[in-house]
Amino acid sequence: MRSRLHAHIGTIRQLEILLAVHDKGSIKAAAKALFLTQPTVSIQMKKLAQAMGSPLYNYSNRKILFTDIGLELIKTAVEVLDSFARLDMAIGNIKDFKSGTLRLAVVTTSKYFIPHLLGPFLERYPDIDIQLNIGNRAQTIERLKQGVDDFYVFSHPPSDIETQSIEFLVNPLVAIAHEDHPIAKKKNLTLEDLCKEPFLMREQGSGTRYAIEAFLKQHNVKLNVKMTIESNEAIKHLVMSKLGISILSAHTLMYGGQSGLVRLPIKELPINAHWFFVWSKSKRQTLIATEFLNHIETNGRSLLQKEMIKNDILYS
Ligand code: PGA
Repeated sequence: MRSRLHAHIGTIRQLEILLAVHDKGSIKAAAKALFLTQPTVSIQMKKLAQAMGSPLYNYSNRKILFTDIGLELIKTAVEVLDSFARLDMAIGNIKDFKSGTLRLAVVTTSKYFIPHLLGPFLERYPDIDIQLNIGNRAQTIERLKQGVDDFYVFSHPPSDIETQSIEFLVNPLVAIAHEDHPIAKKKNLTLEDLCKEPFLMREQGSGTRYAIEAFLKQHNVKLNVKMTIESNEAIKHLVMSKLGISILSAHTLMYGGQSGLVRLPIKELPINAHWFFVWSKSKRQTLIATEFLNHIETNGRSLLQKEMIKNDILYS
């Protein structure tokens, strides 16, 4: 908010000079303390008085007596200079990685493993704020275009935006069915068998769907899509309820329950995708973001691979 006086206050330096005059009790002593000449101090005080439209002090027996307006301005000067001191400290802390914000925008499917990367990072830097935005591939691409976040997680990064990226984990997309589904009893399954069954598909804009569609095109086959659903979890539950089969990232089976679900051994599957950390080429990385990238490179990869092995989702 811009105050009436805002435009007239010259510089923060004038406020510092005002405080020195108040603290030292005279123009001469303030000038000495600030290594300025007396006329410089007097001129700056005059300018401040003009900005206020009123004298800031009077003289009584050669002593400076501040007016009410002068005293109000001194109070404000203390607050302003304190705020700058706090800002200075905050910048120092950010530089030391003690605090600050890390902004991530990740596709929905990566929410199954992202917390395992953030946990150890936050243990090391407990005062860092994390802003985690979760959307489907199309929504996350929109954020990348706007350049809001430090990093983006995709398994199919857009090719038409200038980015840099590191690949950090495999993302096998596997076919799933309920264990009582007739298809689950069959051996030597092929893609044709899968295409005959009612299929539960992710929504337009989803990276999972993007990968499935590219795969179908490559194999020149069409699925029998029965329902379009905007959530991996909902698809899992619909498959558990025997309403159809689906193809999802194996990461979705790691957490949140998978009772009654089996992975179908389709000859042409899994779709072997990979996860990437992506950032905009044009955005300057903060120190926190650089540190986070180091964390992914040095600990993150192996940590997540261990999680995948533990949960038995590193299929060949
Ligand atoms: P999605 O993306 O969560 O939008 O399906 C997953 C992916 O990119 O593989």
